[in-house]
Amino acid sequence: MTRHFLNLSDAGHDAVAAMINDAIDRKAARHGWPLGKPDADRPLDGHVLAMVFEKSSTRTRVSFDMAIRQLGGSSIILEAGSTQLGRGETVADTARVLSRMSDAIMIRTDDHAKIEAMAQHASVPVINGLTDLSHPCQIVADLLTIIEHRKALPGLQLAWLGDGNNVLNSIVEAAGLMKFTVRIGCPEGYDPDPAFVSQAQAAGGTISYHRDAASAAAGADVIVTDTWISMGQAHAEAKLAAMMPYQVNDALMALAAPDALFLHCLPAHRGEEVSASVIDGPQSVVWDEAENRLHAQKSVLRWVFEQI
Ligand code: CP
Ligand code: NVA
Repeated sequence: MTRHFLNLSDAGHDAVAAMINDAIDRKAARHGWPLGKPDADRPLDGHVLAMVFEKSSTRTRVSFDMAIRQLGGSSIILEAGSTQLGRGETVADTARVLSRMSDAIMIRTDDHAKIEAMAQHASVPVINGLTDLSHPCQIVADLLTIIEHRKALPGLQLAWLGDGNNVLNSIVEAAGLMKFTVRIGCPEGYDPDPAFVSQAQAAGGTISYHRDAASAAAGADVIVTDTWISMGQAHAEAKLAAMMPYQVNDALMALAAPDALFLHCLPAHRGEEVSASVIDGPQSVVWDEAENRLHAQKSVLRWVFEQI
């Protein structure tokens, strides 16, 4: 059966753990090499990854492009607006055509139903490069970053501050798979998707809601936030005002564990969801996190091609 990666649960605990270990090993094996030089074993030699973007991207685009190159393959980048998809050709027909000319498809889109349709009609693996519902590739990189900074996942206390968005949904999903705690500090009305929460709780993750930011952050090992206005959402002053008490700033970081890490998937908005002093401060690991998109995406690619 074709392996798709639409959410972390498509892989499951063992495969996510294996992806992280693979990323750690491959990252170490090519330390100091020029970035464009392929890995010695070129495990995806000759493979072509088609990438479809219906939304903006810097990290996802560059990390997948470099990932497939380092694995020995190449990429085709399609901006949806300049393809027939942007003129109304169906996702199903696009999936059928791309499957005949590429070995895997990565798509960033809005409605999660579109990526499900892509997977249904593609005969090659489909990878979720972000939808309005979830961002699993980001979370493989985040878990890698947390482990690299010597924090074990089982029992980890991760505090999320701000909007209950696509990134949080995937963190919640990871908490169920990898057995850690997510303390969600967000205003009422901005909770994550309840299906992700109940699935994570059933799988053994601990998810708690805190309407008070201080209570979410207290003693946390990792503090995470993201933009208050995601791509495709309208700028809303009322939402920004509701989010302001959940800003990650020095006072909030002081409530977390003394060695707590700060993560943010980026792009960041200094002065909104995070203060400049935190994101540019000593506890921030956001640049390692961004680099780890490359290493994590190589593992995702190797997993869909059944090499992990
Ligand atoms: N974190 C992330 O997905 O970044 P991009 O939107 O730049 O791809
Ligand atoms: N929640 C953000 C993540 C960007 C990488 C968005 O969807 O815009």
